[in-house]
Amino acid sequence: MLSPVFLSLLVSAASATLYTPISTTCPSTSLVRAASGLSDNEEAYRVSRKAVADEALKAWLTSTDSGFGTAELPTVALTTSGGGYRSMLSGAGVIQGLDSRDSNVSTSGLFQALTYQAGLSGGSWLLTSISGNNYPTVSNLRDTLWEQALQDSLFDPGELWAAVNDIRIVDDIASKEAAGFDTTLTDPWGRLLGYQFYKQDDGGAGVTWSSVTTFSNFTSHAVPYPVITALGVKVWEGQCLPGPNATTYEFTPYEFGSWDSDVSAFTPTEYLGTSLKGGVPTSALCTTNYDNIGYITGTSSNLFSELCTDLPAPANSSTDVAATLEAVLDKIHE
Ligand SMILES: *[C@@H]1O[C@H](CO)[C@@H](O)[C@H](O)[C@H]1NC(C)=O
Ligand SMILES: *[C@@H]1O[C@H](CO)[C@@H](O)[C@H](O)[C@H]1NC(C)=O
Ligand SMILES: *[C@@H]1O[C@H](CO)[C@@H](O)[C@H](O)[C@H]1NC(C)=O
Ligand SMILES: *[C@@H]1O[C@H](CO)[C@@H](O)[C@H](O)[C@H]1NC(C)=O
Repeated sequence: MLSPVFLSLLVSAASATLYTPISTTCPSTSLVRAASGLSDNEEAYRVSRKAVADEALKAWLTSTDSGFGTAELPTVALTTSGGGYRSMLSGAGVIQGLDSRDSNVSTSGLFQALTYQAGLSGGSWLLTSISGNNYPTVSNLRDTLWEQALQDSLFDPGELWAAVNDIRIVDDIASKEAAGFDTTLTDPWGRLLGYQFYKQDDGGAGVTWSSVTTFSNFTSHAVPYPVITALGVKVWEGQCLPGPNATTYEFTPYEFGSWDSDVSAFTPTEYLGTSLKGGVPTSALCTTNYDNIGYITGTSSNLFSELCTDLPAPANSSTDVAATLEAVLDKIHE
C-alpha cells in the first residue's frame, strides 16, 4: 500500500476513472471451485477451438508433406517465457513466423493450429498485447503501437518522466483507493505497461482480462485460449523473489487460480477483488473491473516486492507520486 498521508490527500480529489473497480450484485454461482478439472467455460472453448485448430494443422501438414497422417491430431500450445522486452520481441518474431496472415515461410500457418497460448512476465506483455487488442498481426502491432511505445520506453527514464506527468495514472490509483481497495506498486506499474501494449483509451485503463471473452475473435474461437502465468512470492516468509518451489498461478479470461497442491482452486477472473470468507462473498456486493489487463500482466512481471525494495517514502503531493514512480523504475533499471 502506498503512503497513507499522500493517499488521503489524493483520495479527496478522486473521481471514478475507467480503472476503478465497480461494486455489483454477486452472481448466483459459486466464486470458488476445487481444481478438479477444467472449468465448463474453458472446456467448451477448448473443444470448439480444437476443431478449428485441427483444420489448420491438417492443412499445414498436408501442404508440408502429403504423406503425413491427419486422422488423430495433437493439441498444440505455444508459450513465451519471461525476460522483459527481449522475450517479448523474440516471441513476437516467432509468432510472426507462425502466423499465415503475417508471413509466408515453411512454418506459416502453425499459429492458426494452436489451441492454447501462454506467457509469463515479458511473454505475458506479448500475449496480452495480442489478445487485448483482439488479435491483430504482430506486424500491425509493431507499426501502430510498439514502435512508438518502445521508444517512449520504461527503460528510458527521461521519456518516462514525461509519461508519468502526462498520463492519468495518479488519478486512477487514487480512485481505486477511494473505492476501498489497497493499491500497491503493481498498480502504477501495470498502468505504465498499459500505455505500451494496449491501443484503447488511456492505455487500456478500461480493458479487463475477463473482457477478452467478449472479443470477436474469442467468441468465434478463431484464436488460441490465452493463459497468463505468474509465480507466487511468499512475502510473509520474507521472500523477495519466487522461491524454487514457488506456486504457479494462472490467469485466463475465465479463471484465476493454481493447480499446485498448496492452492488447488480457481475463482472467476471477472470477480477478482471480491472479499470472500470460506469461499462465500462477505457481502451481497461483489467486485468487477478489478482485473485490469495491465494490472494482470503487471502481476506476472512484478519483479519488485515493495517489502524488499528500498524506496523513498512517498511525500504528500501528487507530483511526488511521479517522483516515487520514477524511483521505482530507476530501481528496476538497476
Ligand atoms: C508463398 O510462397 C510460395 C513459394 O515462394 C509461393 O508459391 C506462394 O504463392 C506464396 N503464397 C502467398 C500467399 O504469398
Ligand atoms: C480477428 O478478426 C478480424 C476481423 O474479423 C480478422 O481480420 C482477424 O484475422 C482475426 N484474427 C485472427 C487471429 O483470426
Ligand atoms: C517443495 O514442495 C514439495 C511439495 O510440497 C516439498 O516436499 C519440498 O520439501 C519443497 N521444497 C522446498 C525446497 O521447499
Ligand atoms: C507534508 O509532509 C511534510 C514532511 O513530512 C510535513 O512537514 C507537512 O506538514 C506535510 N504537509 C501536509 C499538508 O500534510
